[in-house]
Amino acid sequence: MGTQAQKIVDYDLKKLIEHLNKALSDEWLATFQYWVGSKVVKGPFSPLVAKELAEHSKEEYEHAELLTNRIIVLGGTPVLEPKDWYKFSTCGFKKPTIFREIGLLEDNIKSERCAIAVYNNLLKEIRGKDDVTFNLIEQIMEDEIEHEEDLQRILEDIKLK
Ligand SMILES: [Fe+2]
Ligand SMILES: [Fe+2]
Repeated sequence: MGTQAQKIVDYDLKKLIEHLNKALSDEWLATFQYWVGSKVVKGPFSPLVAKELAEHSKEEYEHAELLTNRIIVLGGTPVLEPKDWYKFSTCGFKKPTIFREIGLLEDNIKSERCAIAVYNNLLKEIRGKDDVTFNLIEQIMEDEIEHEEDLQRILEDIKLK
C-alpha cells in the first residue's frame, strides 16, 4: 500500500476500492468465459475463433492483474473468493451452451459491450479525482473496445461465408 498514493485520491477510498473489486470480478469471469470458450468452440471456423478467444482471455487476465495491483496500492484487498465474483460482477458470466462459433462470439460481444459501459461509467465517476486510476481504467477500456471490434469483425466474416 502507498500512503501518498492514497492521500492524493480525491474520492472516497472505500468506494473506489469497491468499484475496482467489482471490475476485478468481471475480469475474472471474462478471463474464464473466454478461456473455456476457446476450448469448447466447434465448427469450421473454430481454429480462428479459438485463437482469438484465447488471446482475449490472456488480456482479461492482465486486466485482473492491473486492477489487483491498484487495489493493493490503495490499501484494499482484492476479492479473495471465486464465489464473490458472481456477487460483485456487473456483467455476469455467460456459460457456453451452444458451442458453435456464432453463439460464442455473440455471447462474448454482449459481455464486451457490458464491460465498455461499466468502464465508461467508472471514468465519468472518477474523472479529475484520481488520475492514476483514471488512466488505468482508460487503458483497460481501450482493450475492451478493441475486443468488441475484433469479435464483431470475425462474426461478420463468418456470416458472409
Ligand atoms: Fe477486461
Ligand atoms: Fe475484453
